[in-house]
Amino acid sequence: MPGIEFANLAPNIGAEVRGLDLSRPVAAAEMAALERALADRAVLLIRGQDITPEQHIAFSRQLGPLEDHVLSNFCLPGHKEIFVVSNIIENGKHIGAFGGSKQYHSDLAYLDEPSLGSVFHCLECPEEGGETSFVSMSAAYAALPEERKRWLQDKKAVFDYVWHYERTHRDRPALTDEQKAKVPPIAHPVVRTHPVNGVPSLFLTEIWIRRFEGMDDAESQKIVADLLAFATGPEFIYVHKWSPGDILIWDNRNSMHKACPFDETGTRRRMHRTTVTGTRPYFEAAA
Ligand SMILES: [Fe+2]
Repeated sequence: MPGIEFANLAPNIGAEVRGLDLSRPVAAAEMAALERALADRAVLLIRGQDITPEQHIAFSRQLGPLEDHVLSNFCLPGHKEIFVVSNIIENGKHIGAFGGSKQYHSDLAYLDEPSLGSVFHCLECPEEGGETSFVSMSAAYAALPEERKRWLQDKKAVFDYVWHYERTHRDRPALTDEQKAKVPPIAHPVVRTHPVNGVPSLFLTEIWIRRFEGMDDAESQKIVADLLAFATGPEFIYVHKWSPGDILIWDNRNSMHKACPFDETGTRRRMHRTTVTGTRPYFEAAA
């Protein structure tokens, strides 16, 4: 039996994992238990991990192949797998990406194969603010009326990165044709089956969704807004208050997350993130 224990962090989402030391390879039986717990709880917390970037990468690889981030200027020097998320400025330059999305999303949901999940390591964090808030989209889906679930099961949502960018980032440079070509609109099932435990989840986000396939924008967005208002009810949420040494693993296949604000000019926040490559979302009706 694996020598690790799980304790729930909130009723519907999150578990703390005790008895793991990520400075050493995790045994196959323990990895299987972690992967199952990640599917069931969407967010796993492992406290007190004083690990090197190499150990962070080695553990993340046990979950799957890693992505190299497109913003290579914010990767840890010498470690293209580690994306630095920080508000800190050194020698006049930001050392990492800052101002993470304050709207609920699932990472890279606008791609054909969105990320499986991320492994976040907290190195420095403010005393107040800067939390990360998570929503269980499997618990939210399970709580919907049966009629609503049936209606959603054959729907697809069109994620349109360029459309979203052009209406919200008027202050940023326009996307080039080459950039636009990399992110064409993509339709994903609104109800997504988790490949590990077979549990269905809502697959929606507060950003990027333009419409349901076959419906117009305004009508679709009203329905998406109603569903997200329901999904972000307090019973489906876990808000993580960070401490240095925390490792948080989240699953993009059954949850959304957002960054909470903090004093970005008077405090220091420094995180290392790896991202595990995902596969195309699908829906499989229960037998
Ligand atoms: Fe994110």
